Amino acid sequence: MTDLHLHFDRAAGRMSGQVAAGLRAAIRGGRLAAGSRLPSSRDLARDLGVSRGVVVAAYEQLLAEGFLVARRGDGTRVGPMAATQNPLPESRPGRDRRPARDAPPVSYDLRPGVPDLAAFPRERWSSSIRAALRALQYDELGYPDPAGAPVLRAELAGQLGRVRAAHVTPERVVVTQGVAHGLAIVVRLLAEDGHRRLAVEDPASVHQVPLLEEAGVELVRVPVDGQGVDVTALDRTGARAVLVTPAHQYPTGVVLSARRRAELVSWARAVDGIVIEDDYDAEFRYDREPVGCLQGIAPDRVVLTGSVSKSLAPALRLGWVVAPRPLAERVRAYRAGTDLGGPVIEQHALAELIASGSYDRHLRVMRRQYRLRRDALVEAVRAHLPGCRVHGVSAGLHVYVELPVGMREQSVVEAAGRMGVAVDGAGPLWWGPAPSAALVLGYAALSPARLARAMALVGSAVTPGSDG
Ligand SMILES: Cc1ncc(COP(=O)(O)O)c(C=O)c1O
Repeated sequence: MTDLHLHFDRAAGRMSGQVAAGLRAAIRGGRLAAGSRLPSSRDLARDLGVSRGVVVAAYEQLLAEGFLVARRGDGTRVGPMAATQNPLPESRPGRDRRPARDAPPVSYDLRPGVPDLAAFPRERWSSSIRAALRALQYDELGYPDPAGAPVLRAELAGQLGRVRAAHVTPERVVVTQGVAHGLAIVVRLLAEDGHRRLAVEDPASVHQVPLLEEAGVELVRVPVDGQGVDVTALDRTGARAVLVTPAHQYPTGVVLSARRRAELVSWARAVDGIVIEDDYDAEFRYDREPVGCLQGIAPDRVVLTGSVSKSLAPALRLGWVVAPRPLAERVRAYRAGTDLGGPVIEQHALAELIASGSYDRHLRVMRRQYRLRRDALVEAVRAHLPGCRVHGVSAGLHVYVELPVGMREQSVVEAAGRMGVAVDGAGPLWWGPAPSAALVLGYAALSPARLARAMALVGSAVTPGSDG
């Protein structure tokens, strides 16, 4: 498809407004000339990773404004008067969250953190929603059990036991609005119990740090090496609670080794402590069967959290906490006292998706896709960025790429941006200075060919003489 170089900010919402604004700017600026044909709404939606409805609404808006014209059999074209329209006045500060006009357009988005949103199983999800609506009794539409719909807690208990070797009964499960939500509650409750200090991995997700601090704990950092979190260093911190990502450390991609798993559990027992296990990326291991979760070997000491943010979509805001019974009961009580529980219809829909086998089928399909994408990205990094080192196991939705000595992280991020490739540097994920310059590349949403092209562009920007 033609690259229209539309750039938008997913976090800002109102996607159809943003797509319309991008097209309007392209027409006004002359990049889309009068008479030029636009891609079909289906093609553009696929390319942008948005729903078709978003593009249809944007096209309808621009048809109404006269920027576009549509004739049966001739598709949608830029209108004859479009380029001569007066530019809009400058945007009002504080209201317009579109990217700055001179921000380079993003053609290849390799920022980590989201799955392939275009692959969300819309049809299957809507039939699960319909099934839920058919099955729900009237009284189930009242205020829910704040621990979550019993049917979902039962399905999650089965799924987590089967797939993640968790030690779980429905009574230990509390449904949350994602890992972030579960962490915020659990860490607050642990702080009430006297866990004023929480150890977190270094490096770690920047999204989690503020919400953990907000929960009222002092954060201390523990280094991660090739085997995962350093338990000897953890012991020295004096903390009795730690948050870890054993299945696929974020962002280094290391899996917690068998020895470290045993050490971590022994540490928790010795200090009467607690391990919070963020089961990050656990669904996506490509080189072997995933290692079972830590909670399965020490259910009395480990609180397991997970969500469907990577397996389905973050927009669902559906996750879980699996905790020892007394803590699970307090999480439930916390929700009863703060928000009266989560949306019920979606919980029933997820239960149906799991029970029917569709959730596992979707994961199998995505695993194959992601594996091809990861392989393509790793190959392209080797081909176009010689001297770079890819860390971590074959898993997840991102890779940690260490840059060669002498290559500055920020210069690479900026050079890539000028070529239309959005990438994140790893620096902000480290507590202090990072040991070396690195990129964290998310590959979930791009085809192997587009990943190769993106890396060729980055290579041409940072390596003089490379043929991008
Ligand atoms: C390390 C880590 N775990 C989990 C998540 C997912 O959070 P949630 O389930 O709230 O979408 C994120 C998202 O940023 C993350 O960085």
